Amino acid sequence: WGGFGHITVAYLASNFVSNTTAAYFQTLLRNDTTDYLANVATWADSIRYTKWGRWTGPLHYIDAKDSPPHSCGIVYERDCKPEGCVVSAIQNYTSRVLDQSLHVVERAQAAKFVIHFVGDIHQPLHTEDVEKGGNGISVFFDDKRFNLHHVWDSSIAEKIVTHKKHGVGRRPFPAAKKWAEQLAEEIREGQYKANSSEWVKGLELKSASEIALEWAVEGNAHVCTVVLPEGPEAIRDQELGGAYFEAAAPVVELQIAKAGYRLAAWLDLVVTAISKNE
Ligand code: ADE
Ligand code: ZN
Ligand code: ZN
Repeated sequence: WGGFGHITVAYLASNFVSNTTAAYFQTLLRNDTTDYLANVATWADSIRYTKWGRWTGPLHYIDAKDSPPHSCGIVYERDCKPEGCVVSAIQNYTSRVLDQSLHVVERAQAAKFVIHFVGDIHQPLHTEDVEKGGNGISVFFDDKRFNLHHVWDSSIAEKIVTHKKHGVGRRPFPAAKKWAEQLAEEIREGQYKANSSEWVKGLELKSASEIALEWAVEGNAHVCTVVLPEGPEAIRDQELGGAYFEAAAPVVELQIAKAGYRLAAWLDLVVTAISKNE
């Protein structure tokens, strides 16, 4: 996701974490405001394009090599690169947050990676190999030229909140906080109420890599249905601001909502595990 998506995921998670979890991460991240997760949500992207942060690039995605529209799906051994992928990164950095032998600065950095990658694994094109996750597919969105990856990272989410009459503008934090509060209400009492417990079911019973792979597979399923329903060539140079947007918007909202709710449950589990070992 772009900055706006990641910040929304983080605010949404802060709506659902336990008080103990909030206090733990406020201390670890040295930020005692309600923005303690949101403020670090885009840090992993800020280092990705620096000389010393380049190696972290592949950790933002898993390039599933089944090609839509005829086949979709992730095979971990085939699709996770030797240098790592978003699934192995969630597993690795979660274990580093838990590892009390690491310096607090290293555990804080690991937490920042987890907060970011739980967001990214829910962006369907972060689980797709075709044209580098759509980066190589030029399209139009409301008459402006973008690549398909950018449309899914940013344009769709930004148009959703514009429709909700609080545009993003140049201040993503207030708009993201407001969208997160609306999505939190959808989870508590609205359209997601019936399913949200399924989103986090059995988390404590499985390994981090199993869970992350399930999340990736679930997001990847949207690639064959909504993202590239007729494959990559059919969408090239198409205008996506109309009917395509109408079909894609509910998927973006769902994936952002799942990411935030799951991040909260994940951070709660981390803090529970740490307190058990003390
Ligand atoms: N680079 C290569 N594949 C990618 C993907 N799926 N998402 C983002 N960047 C990528
Ligand atoms: Zn992206
Ligand atoms: Zn990212």
